Amino acid sequence: MTIVNDEPGAPTPVPAPPVASDAPAPAPTSPASVPAAIRCRGLSKAFGTARNAVVALDRVDLDVRAGEFVCVVGASGCGKSTLLNLVAGLDAPTRGQVDVVGRTALMFQDSALFPWLTVADNVGLPLRLAGMPKGARQARVEELLASVHLAGQGERRPHELSGGMRQRVALARALAQEAEILLMDEPFGALDAMTRDLLHDELERLWVERSLTILFVTHNVREASRLGDRIALLTSRPGRVAATFDVPFARPRRIEAPEVSEMAGLVTARLRQEVARHGPR
Ligand SMILES: Nc1ncnc2c1ncn2[C@@H]1O[C@H](COP(=O)(O)OP(=O)(O)OP(=O)(O)O)[C@@H](O)[C@H]1O
Ligand SMILES: [Mg+2]
Repeated sequence: MTIVNDEPGAPTPVPAPPVASDAPAPAPTSPASVPAAIRCRGLSKAFGTARNAVVALDRVDLDVRAGEFVCVVGASGCGKSTLLNLVAGLDAPTRGQVDVVGRTALMFQDSALFPWLTVADNVGLPLRLAGMPKGARQARVEELLASVHLAGQGERRPHELSGGMRQRVALARALAQEAEILLMDEPFGALDAMTRDLLHDELERLWVERSLTILFVTHNVREASRLGDRIALLTSRPGRVAATFDVPFARPRRIEAPEVSEMAGLVTARLRQEVARHGPR
């Protein structure tokens, strides 16, 4: 495990694993041959104006290469959701640039399903909006539901499902958008550990099968160590990339595996330094 990028002037990282570079360079750890699906340069976002301005993000440099699974961790309020919203194009940066190559779909902690629609209609909504004929749509919805292990559940309504099932529906709806890039904002944060574990497996499978690029926000460093190819750690507000960690372990990983715990410990130690430097927000 390697810290591949560390913020200039930051305290020395916790001992043990090798620090590959303290260089203040942005995070392009991707081989030059693999294009960046997401490229953030000097990305800054302030809310409000003048004295009342809240600087949520400050000159964030982050690349996510096509097919990569990158997790973003950081203290509450450090700008993780703001970053995701900027990448999704839901908000505009105050300064800097974000380039996204490919279609994106966003998933939140809350499944954000329409309660009056059936499961099938929720999943099929992007297809209907895209003008897909009913027959083809139904077949595609069945296929998508099967891919998240919800075959035959299409006629149920969201309130009849468990939280984990609702997140599966939300995942199927995201996949229905034919997105190449999934932007996920703590999508499993409200689930119990066992359900989360199952959804980690499913997400990993779909990521491989569909060659997705995933930018996944979580404050759960264990989850980040379980899922990510890389972990980007943001400073407390304003958010900057304080360090990125390569997670080189073979997949599929178990969340309780010793190397995942070790990585989580390393990231947590760095996170603690950040909180100690800036205080809780
Ligand atoms: N629309 C907004 N208007 C004003 N301030 C905002 C807005 N959105 C976010 N902020 C502020 O920007 C900062 C970063 O918020 P953000 O939601 O990105 O944090 P976060 O890292 O996602 O936190 P959490 O882990 O709690 O979800 C916070 O101080 C928040 O109050
Ligand atoms: Mg958030």
